Amino acid sequence: MSVTKPLHDEHQGLLPHIEALRAAAEAAEGDGGGLRRALDDVLEFLHHHLIPHAQAEDAVLYPVVERAMGAPGATATMRRDHDEVVELTRQLQQVRDALDGPPTPEQRRSGQRLLYGLYAIIRLHFAKEEEVYLLILDAELTADAAAAMFAAMHAGAQRGAQTGAAG
Ligand SMILES: [Fe+2]
Ligand SMILES: [Fe+2]
Repeated sequence: MSVTKPLHDEHQGLLPHIEALRAAAEAAEGDGGGLRRALDDVLEFLHHHLIPHAQAEDAVLYPVVERAMGAPGATATMRRDHDEVVELTRQLQQVRDALDGPPTPEQRRSGQRLLYGLYAIIRLHFAKEEEVYLLILDAELTADAAAAMFAAMHAGAQRGAQTGAAG
């Protein structure tokens, strides 16, 4: 069994919620109530699940990847993806906060732009972690080192989810 299976499994658990981003973008065509509910669900996922996951990767996983690669700074491009998700989530929250009646055409367009943007960035980001980083870690980490890394990630993600951290 691969030592990175826990992270692969976590990604598998997050993927249906990422598909929901695209469904929410499509819901932006419908009535305003459907759009508000879709945005509330998506924002709950982003603030309380996806962003804490990304923060745990920044704090714990990526330093281990850099050591495994022997390349300090190599994960900066992936951290930048995380920053973009935080920024687009902030903008999506603004769209939701302004939505107290039927959405205007501009609000629909803004919501769709942000939802499709988040969907594409997160899908590609997950593929890069799965197809590049997990292979590096599987080749370099012992089972004990991987277990310690996931315990530290899990503790960090729980702290982030409890505080609803979005930065
Ligand atoms: Fe990530
Ligand atoms: Fe991830």
